[in-house]
Amino acid sequence: MDATPPDAKPPAAPSRQPPSKAPPKAPVELLPILIAPHKTLKARARPVVTADASAVRDLVARMFATMYAAPGIGLAAPQVGALLRLFVVDLMPGEKPQPMVLINPEIVAASKETAIREEGCLSLPGQYAEVERPAHVVMRFEDATGARRQVEAEGLLSACLQHELDHLDGILFVDHLSALKRNMILRRLAKEMRQKDSKDP
Ligand code: NI
Repeated sequence: MDATPPDAKPPAAPSRQPPSKAPPKAPVELLPILIAPHKTLKARARPVVTADASAVRDLVARMFATMYAAPGIGLAAPQVGALLRLFVVDLMPGEKPQPMVLINPEIVAASKETAIREEGCLSLPGQYAEVERPAHVVMRFEDATGARRQVEAEGLLSACLQHELDHLDGILFVDHLSALKRNMILRRLAKEMRQKDSKDP
């Protein structure tokens, strides 16, 4: 998720990569982010299984690097062309990295109370809209070590987790809007991408 509205101060670039116990090695190669209306963004991702472990380790490292470089606060595997149920999030509280990997996530409880927040998405660069979602959610998931975990979220984290979970089911934030607003945003995005292409061939 790109949560920076156009009139807000952009977040400071992270000064370092997320903490890692691994010895320093060559920088991780970034992944291209798919842009709407790419058909992979509309597909349902499959659960991660044990056999995926080593591929997932590599994918997660590259997804974090790609998300921080964008910069964004959340990135789901389908956005980089991998139809697997996992996403990465880092809200950078106090501008300090706080990376989270959520594998096979599911919402186990959601409040009736809703909240409206302005959302953006790295797959719809430069586009923002207010989206209404449950204000509080409890999400169950597996972490990078395969341990079962649960997170209770409200505020920006709640919106971000729900936004990223949506990506695993082929849902974009614009799918929560009226058809009129959605089409307006998608048309504007298509036009801006054409203009960008013609500027840097
Ligand atoms: Ni997104």
